[in-house]
Order: sequence, then C-alpha cells, then structure tokens
Amino acid sequence: MSTTATQTKPLAQPSGTYQPKGMLIGGKWVGSASGQRIAIENPGNRSLVAEVPRAAAADVEAAVAAADKAFPAWKNVVPRERGKLLLKIAEAMEVRSEEMARTIALETGNALRTQARGEAKLAADIFRYFGGLASELKGETVPLGEHVLSYTRREPIGIVGAIIPWNAPVMLGALKIAPALCAGNVLVMKAAEDAPMGVLLMADICQEFLPPGVLNVVTGYGEECGGPLANHPKVRKLSFTGSTDVGKVIMRAAAERIVPVSLELGGKSPSLVYPDADEDWAVDGIINAMRFTRQSQSCTAGSRLFLHEDIFDSFLKKLEKKTSALKIGDPLDEASDIGTIINNKQFTKVCKYVDEGLKRSDAKLVFGGLPPKTGPLSEGYFAVPTVFADRSNDWRLAREEIFGPVLVAIRWSDEAEAIRMANDSHYGLAAYVWTHDIGRGLRAAHAIESGWVQVNQGGGQSPGMSYGGFKQSGLGREFSLEGMLDSFTQRKSVTVNLAV
Ligand code: NAI
Ligand code: MG
Repeated sequence: MSTTATQTKPLAQPSGTYQPKGMLIGGKWVGSASGQRIAIENPGNRSLVAEVPRAAAADVEAAVAAADKAFPAWKNVVPRERGKLLLKIAEAMEVRSEEMARTIALETGNALRTQARGEAKLAADIFRYFGGLASELKGETVPLGEHVLSYTRREPIGIVGAIIPWNAPVMLGALKIAPALCAGNVLVMKAAEDAPMGVLLMADICQEFLPPGVLNVVTGYGEECGGPLANHPKVRKLSFTGSTDVGKVIMRAAAERIVPVSLELGGKSPSLVYPDADEDWAVDGIINAMRFTRQSQSCTAGSRLFLHEDIFDSFLKKLEKKTSALKIGDPLDEASDIGTIINNKQFTKVCKYVDEGLKRSDAKLVFGGLPPKTGPLSEGYFAVPTVFADRSNDWRLAREEIFGPVLVAIRWSDEAEAIRMANDSHYGLAAYVWTHDIGRGLRAAHAIESGWVQVNQGGGQSPGMSYGGFKQSGLGREFSLEGMLDSFTQRKSVTVNLAV
C-alpha cells in the first residue's frame, strides 16, 4: 500500500513512464498545502516509483475555488466547441498512449499487453465518443397550446466532485471527465491514492487544451481528501466509482445537501453455463468474464460460476488447462498475461479468502491456491488464479466481493433454482449466460437482476452502452449519451406566453 513518503528521491521509475509534476489546480502543477506527499509503489516489485502530493481539505478548497472561477465561461462555450476540444484531447491521448499504457502497468500492476494498452486506447476513445456528442445536449418542446411556447434546456450542474478507484484508473477517470466537461460542467477529481500517475498524465494532456480550472485533479487519501470533496458545499454533483461501503458514505454526503449522485459500485456477478456450452469458446469466455488477466480486480468480474451438473467436471478441467497456460509475471513484460494485485492490503485480503477455502474440508480446491513464497513472483503482489468447488452460494466466498482471482464454482440442475441463486446477492452489476439456445439465453438474461447481462461473451464495457448497477451495485448510468444527459445535466423548463 502507498505510504506517506519519508525519503525524497531517487525513485526506481522505468523508462517510458510518466513522471508526475504535482497535482493540477487552476491550470498549475502544485504540491499539497501541507507539503506532504504520497509515495507510489510498483506492485510488481514493491519499489517506490514516484511521489504525488498528499492533498487534504485546504487543497480541495483551492481546487473547488479554481473550478468555481472557471465555470461561468466554460458553461457558455458553444457545446460543439467543447466537443472539439475533447476530440483534440482524444488525438493527443492516442499520441501518448504507449507512455500511458506503461504508466498504468507500472502503478496498477495490470499487464501491459493484455490490459494497460487496451485501457489507454479506450480512454482516448471515450474522449472521442463524448466529443462527438456535444450537439446532442438537446432539450424538448412541450405542446401546451398554440399560444404557449414551452421548452426544456439541458443545463450543466456546476462543479462535479469525482472520486475514482485504482483498478482501471484512466478509463474510469475518462468516463467522468469527458461527459461532465462535454455537458458544460467543471470538475474536481480525486485520483486513487494507489494509482494517480496515469490520471495525472491524462490531466496533463487535457490541460493543454482546456481553460485553467475546468479540470482539476487532486491526489490524496479517501477520508482526508475525498471526504472534504464529497462534503464541499460548492460541489453540486458527486460521481463515485469504488466500493459499496464508500459509496454509502458518498450518498450520505449527497443527502446532506441534496445533490445528485452517481455510484458505480461493487459486484459479485454470476456466470450461468448451460449443459450445451461445455466447449472451448465458453471456457475462453469465462476466463475473460472472470477478468483473470486483470487479477479479477474488476467490478464486473463473473466471480460466481454456475455450472450445470452434467458438465461440471469436464468444464472445470478445460478451465484449468486454459487458465494454467496464462503467464503470470512482471506487468511491464510483454510476455506476461497476468500482473499483480494493487497493494499489500488487497493482496493480504485475497490471500485470506484463499486460505479460508483451503482450510474448509467441504470446499474443494480445483486449481490455484496461495501465492508462491519464494522466487521472482514473491517480490510483488502476484496472486494465482484459483477455483473452489462444491460449496453453496451461501458461502462467504460466493457472497463477498473478493476483488482477486478467486472463482467459486457452484453446481446446478434446475434452471429456476440456478436463476434464484444468481439473484441471491445484494449486488447486481453484471451477469453472463452461456448457451447455444438463444431463446433460453435471453429468458435467463431477462430474469437475472443485473444492470448488464452478456450472452455468450465476457468482454468489457464500450462507449455508447448505458452501464451501471442494480441493487447495491450502484445508482445512475454512465458511458452513454443517456448517461451523460441523466448524470451530468439538469433539465430546466421555460414556459412563454405568446399571447402578449
Ligand atoms: P475504496 O472504495 O475505499 O476507494 C475508492 C476511492 O474512494 C479511492 O479514491 C479512495 O481514496 C476513495 N475513498 C475511500 N474512502 C473515502 C471516503 N471516506 N470519502 C471519500 N472518498 C473515499 O476502495 P479500496 O479501499 O481501494 O478497495 C476496497 C474494496 O473495494 C475492493 O476490495 C473492492 O471490493 C472494492 N472496489 C470496487 C471497485 C469497483 O470498481 N467496483 C474499485 C475499487 C475497489
Ligand atoms: Mg478503502
């Protein structure tokens, strides 16, 4: 885990990665008011690679003041012009996408080839997508009669306070910055304390094109920096991605002053495999859905695998064979498929779950287990893809979001019972259904209580889809035109008497 820095330099930063210049407030790179910093660790070898400011309330105050100053002019920029700036940012992000990918791999431990490059590219695509939507901030006319003109306007909300996690920091950051700015808002974003470097690089690219204060990025810890941001009286909208526990804290802060809030929270997503899908493509899909190549540190990880009893053993055999072919190693190494867990705290948490599974005589270890204690992998937070079987959906490992590569396989025979188990969770983010029978697959998709169900594929989100959770997985939608309109604008009705 990141610690407050005591040493100054030098840091072991690999070439081709971004060196932060501070945090971005009012178009300037600044340190924290206290002068304190946070050291950023490479989770692949536990070396310190950079330092960022440790922001607290005074820094949030300065960032909000800068945003406040920038808002009146920014909201009046013609939307199409705002869109053009986002398109320029997209281009510039593409030019620096290898530096971005290497920076993401360095600080998050997500493998460069399988994860970080895709994230860098997707972040640029998100700016491009929203840049093209600026002219869609349309209102409606309301037919109140021949002598009345009633119309609605989509107005920006004001200062958006955005708080993001570390698991896909640049993609999740882009997902808030691009729609919020497109709609005419200004933003103060708090990066995650474990992975701020890529977000600072993104901010560095953005600030070349944006007026000062339109986008501000602060770096700091949750309560110390995220707390003052969530509670700031001038912040008019909160957008949070992270754990359900902190999501509740954010929602309480929003309730205090009645501001709208978007929450993208955790998941414990089911994968439902029918007996006709005991085939290689489905196994590949399950590996993808479980996000094994991002150490399963994904809110949409399909971490409960409901396998029909007729194929239970043969499917797991195939899963073992394919999963064991994935190479775990240095995230920056082109050869690595799988990288590391983000920090010691999460690593310890994941190991505890594995340990519990190993100790229970009624849970069967299918493959995997505890991480190696010696050798190169012991130098970082490398976890091993692990599958447990033979326990029920009531087991703690099948209920709690582990956020690590631990998959629980559960046997089913009756379809209605399988769907009941799939829905027996306080989460409802994603779900996956696997069958050649498309009617059956779609009936299951409709019956599952999740914000996003995929049939016969297990990929990630794409710009344009309204993405978000049911139940305690979240509130509101982002990633789409409707998401932008609902989450980052407020409707005003104007009604005019034409008879005078
Ligand atoms: P977290 O929810 O504590 O952190 C997410 C962000 O919220 C970070 O920027 C953090 O600094 C901030 N934060 C934390 N406490 C805050 C507070 N009181 N006020 C304002 N901001 C606050 O997630 P964490 O601790 O990194 O991971 C813990 C667990 O959360 C994971 O094991 C996983 O289960 C879940 N998680 C889910 C994510 C998702 O995308 N659904 C992403 C990250 C974590
Ligand atoms: Mg936390």
